[in-house]
Amino acid sequence: FILPLFLVILSYGLGSISFSYIVSRKLAGIDIREHGSKNAGATNTLRVLGVGPAVLVLLLDALKGSLAVLLALWLTTDPLWPVLAGLAAIIGHNWPAFFGFKGGKGVATTIGVVAVLTFVPGLLAGIIAISAIALFRYVSFGSLIFVTLLPLMIFILDRFTALIYPTEYILGAGVIMVLSYIRHRSNIVRLIRGQENKLGGKA
Ligand code: G3P
Repeated sequence: FILPLFLVILSYGLGSISFSYIVSRKLAGIDIREHGSKNAGATNTLRVLGVGPAVLVLLLDALKGSLAVLLALWLTTDPLWPVLAGLAAIIGHNWPAFFGFKGGKGVATTIGVVAVLTFVPGLLAGIIAISAIALFRYVSFGSLIFVTLLPLMIFILDRFTALIYPTEYILGAGVIMVLSYIRHRSNIVRLIRGQENKLGGKA
């Protein structure tokens, strides 16, 4: 019990390394949380600093989620622990203790978690989400579609295909969805008002 608990705490620490903050500080000498949408994430890095830094942030923020889950998969046997490790990484990303609890919205980190834990459902949800982003040009809308489809896809694939997922994975995806909606509150308000930032548009 001590080791898995340690892994969850470590995952929170990993998640709370805010790569958009670090990259924007190093490359442009700015605090990303004072520019654009003021969110510490890959989308806002794209908005403020361009494609290269954004891809870097996306990869690194995803990687920390993958790493947290991989460690728990290697070192524990109960499926609960990789789920809790993934959630801890996302919570760390969203509310990082070392960065004044001002983090991101957890989408990139969720992608990293999902890539390891539930690749096929994640891929299907991802394809639909990316199509929605290409069509409507709202990253937040696509992100919300992604996290909403995740628990559904895991459940459906588990029920109707040869793929098998522990119940913990479905519940974990449900918690990820709720956390994501909480972090996207301002985006949801802007989407409803038709004031959300469009991809490629002005911040
Ligand atoms: O990854 C977060 C995205 O869904 C929205 O980001 O900066 O447009 O609020 P942003």
